[in-house]
Amino acid sequence: MQKKTYAFEYEWLNDETELNEADRALLLEAKKATANAYAPYSHFHVAAAARLNNGKIVAATNQENASYPVGICAERTLMGTLSSLFPGEPIETMAVTYVNHNSSVGDKPITPCGLCRQSLLEYEQRIKQPMRLILAGPAGPVMILKSAGELLPFGFGPDDLNR
Ligand code: THU
Repeated sequence: MQKKTYAFEYEWLNDETELNEADRALLLEAKKATANAYAPYSHFHVAAAARLNNGKIVAATNQENASYPVGICAERTLMGTLSSLFPGEPIETMAVTYVNHNSSVGDKPITPCGLCRQSLLEYEQRIKQPMRLILAGPAGPVMILKSAGELLPFGFGPDDLNR
């Protein structure tokens, strides 16, 4: 029997002023995009903004539905959009943020849900480039991860289908 450990490092910033200029600009695009969320049921408006390898920034938002499970998170809306418009183009960094219309606090970073973690992992594996993640609330601390896949240890991926 062996005991093994899974660990990964991430950065924790006091607030967005500690981000470099490019990352701050990316987070700002995500913050602006929260205005385009369609979240009449949860009132939790999420936006994800991707910076591609060529520096281009694309943002997307959560899109809910009266049939609740039909709704899709901002992260997956963004990956679907990018796969369709710029197939094969790696996402160098994705910033995710939110405005919670149920609360005036909102000073904690958001982390992707389980479904999005699965989808983020496969996007990275398919494109063969780690995707940095910048996670932030409307204010307060900011988390930076080197690779989105780290959020899903022992994730099931395309290779597992060929075992
Ligand atoms: N949501 C996202 O878009 N991204 C996340 O990382 C977490 C949750 C959305 C799904 C739903 O529309 C609303 O936020 C409340 O869960």
